[in-house]
Amino acid sequence: MTGPLVLGIETSCDETGAGLVRGQELLADAIASSVAEHARFGGVVPEVASRAHLQALVPAVDRALATAGVTLAQVDAVAVTAGPGLAGALQVGVAAAKAYALALSKPLYAVNHLAAHIAVDQLEHGPLPQPVVALLVSGGHSSLLLVPDVAGQVVPLGATIDDAAGEAYDKVARLLGMGFPGGPPIDAAASGGDGAAIAFPRGKYRDGTFDFSFSGLKTSVARWLEARQQAGLPVPVADVAASFQEAVADVLTRKAIDACQAHDVGHLVVGGGVAANSRLRALAADRCAAAGIELRVPRPGLCTDNGAMVAALGAELAARGAPGSPLEVPADSSLPVTSVLAGPAPS
Ligand code: KG4
Ligand code: ZN
Repeated sequence: MTGPLVLGIETSCDETGAGLVRGQELLADAIASSVAEHARFGGVVPEVASRAHLQALVPAVDRALATAGVTLAQVDAVAVTAGPGLAGALQVGVAAAKAYALALSKPLYAVNHLAAHIAVDQLEHGPLPQPVVALLVSGGHSSLLLVPDVAGQVVPLGATIDDAAGEAYDKVARLLGMGFPGGPPIDAAASGGDGAAIAFPRGKYRDGTFDFSFSGLKTSVARWLEARQQAGLPVPVADVAASFQEAVADVLTRKAIDACQAHDVGHLVVGGGVAANSRLRALAADRCAAAGIELRVPRPGLCTDNGAMVAALGAELAARGAPGSPLEVPADSSLPVTSVLAGPAPS
């Protein structure tokens, strides 16, 4: 095993993650989720998430250390999600990471959550090609990015103009009476349905931009369900789920491939919670194969939020000898995707 041993801490939303990575090798990935505490509200309640992080963080770090068979004293650097995310939730992770880094006298890397969703792929598929196009689809973000260097330069190509893809999943699941988060139950229901049953709209499909729009799709599903109920007809849940899922996967993969071709990039990486979706993965594989583009998608457990992704990006920075973040670096709930590291560069 070679390379720096990095502890990664993730608390941007409702998963408390502690990961350990050495170089590009994943040693441990401990996760505690507060999702059950939010379920009855149909979405993440920030204050509840912050309190859950406070309780779960140190045990998660201890579990990760035990799984990896290392001690805190062996850690070479501490990485933490500094943003974007829920302000209070981020504060918990950032404060803890500062404390670990200070106590160990080791560098702190206050990193971008979105870059970490891309960097995690290195743990499974080796060094990312440079450049690579990244399709980042989560509960809070849907973006296409040109990534010359995941630890240095990330260039936005387009993003959602309204709902994120995961948000659309969560809202449509609610319409169908499914639990939160909505991605997994829609994915499961869709496996028994026909994706061509209902022609839901593909927002911004051929508009020549790399932007997305999912709010019209969500409204269209709502109207379709209303009409069905008013007519006294049963709701074919599997077909609605499959047709909605097809509309999302169709637009995401089409634009991702267009972005690769427009920028003459032969590699696409897909990350974020929605990258766990079975139809998105299958359609991306088919379309990339047809277009001669090499596709990289981490396994589903590494697509949803976790500490390993933060450790992966931290390990990349540490391996390059990048200077650590100053201890006064703030959590930044709206950290732009172009900032791989938060805060001002250390002087
Ligand atoms: O990346 P993530 O764990 O957290 C954020 O940074 O937002 O993404 C969470 C989102 C949720 O909206 C959830 O419904 C969605 O990812 N998701 C899925 C699947 N698993 C999680 N969406 C579609 N299909 C899935 N299998
Ligand atoms: Zn995320």
